[in-house]
Amino acid sequence: MLPALFSPLKLGPFELAHRVVLAPLTRMRAEPGTLAPHVLNAEYYAQRATPGGLLIAEASPVLPTGFGNPNVPGIYSGAQVAGWKRVTDAVHAKGGIIFLQLWHVGRVSHSSYQPGGALPLAPSAVAIGGDLKTMTADGKVASYETPRALVTEEIPEIVTAYRRAAHNAVAAGFDGVEIHGANGYLIEQFLQSHTNQRTDRYGGSIEHRTRFLLEVTQAVVDVWGADRVGVRLSPYGIANGSGEPDPMPLYTRAVEALNSFKLAYLHLLEPRSSGAGRADVDWRNVPSAMVLFRPIWNGVLMAAGGFVGDTANAAIADGYADVVAFGRYFISNPDLPRRLAHGFPLTPYHRPTFYGGAEKGYTDYPAYDEMAEA
Ligand code: FNR
Repeated sequence: MLPALFSPLKLGPFELAHRVVLAPLTRMRAEPGTLAPHVLNAEYYAQRATPGGLLIAEASPVLPTGFGNPNVPGIYSGAQVAGWKRVTDAVHAKGGIIFLQLWHVGRVSHSSYQPGGALPLAPSAVAIGGDLKTMTADGKVASYETPRALVTEEIPEIVTAYRRAAHNAVAAGFDGVEIHGANGYLIEQFLQSHTNQRTDRYGGSIEHRTRFLLEVTQAVVDVWGADRVGVRLSPYGIANGSGEPDPMPLYTRAVEALNSFKLAYLHLLEPRSSGAGRADVDWRNVPSAMVLFRPIWNGVLMAAGGFVGDTANAAIADGYADVVAFGRYFISNPDLPRRLAHGFPLTPYHRPTFYGGAEKGYTDYPAYDEMAEA
């Protein structure tokens, strides 16, 4: 038993029974066409639900322009709301709590995913460069395109889309939402200087670059109340071509501004696991987000990235985090809280089945008790 990880915690209006959270995980297994969750997705989330345990459902675009991958579930249509309702019902039937992560990929897309084959949208016309490649909607490896810079008047419309998506999440029976401000996607593109070269009120100074994040947060808080809203950030991350030259001033300002909302939690991704969806990276000599920002953040701090039971327990016991989200090991261990509580061995994850497909690598990982019986 790891006492810190298994002590209860008040998070917003919820009494978490333990502090092992399912991290948001894109799995690309929504129904093609409607991009709505279906029976298989409900089974996957229900497998990972525990009484009083928090799950964060995978990043879900708030608009058709928000996709950069195939078969990702959306949260802007009636069919998607109905599909998500199946998921939340299945999780609630097991006593679980489930938040939805709201997403727009911005430039991390390709015209093949965009309505009318248009260019992806971003704060500025700056492409993801280097060696990074994307996969087009018809499965070809391609370079990233130079996105189209949003005109100022379009930006409040995207904020409104987050607001609509937040309402949809209410209708779909979620318990709260998390705003995806991490990993190089649209919100982070606004935050960081190399992807935001705007000269209007959304670009330039740190104050201007944080405006989009704060407007989205305000819109979502208007719908849900602050105590059911979390924000995920990845200072020092490098996913999807991101990286701020000097992250501290930017993220200090962002975290201080978020303090005033009194959110359910701030979710910080450790940079050692930046881009964990693409490869296993684990650098030793990078700053720790929770260590840096714990003194600045006034509320519940959720840490994620490269944790196992002992390190998660230590992070909580040492006061750096209040709750820890697990990604890859929660994929391969549907009963992860129980395994950590009892010190049972963990099943290794199988990276080739992370993205896309059906049951294999999704709902067919056994619980420890099932393995013992087999
Ligand atoms: C991710 N990650 C991720 N992050 C996020 O904010 N929204 C998402 O939808 C996804 N999708 C996703 C898919 C897959 C297959 C992986 C492996 C990762 C990042 C994830 O939430 C988590 O932060 C990292 O996996 C690091 O945590 P672990 O895996 O070291 O516990």
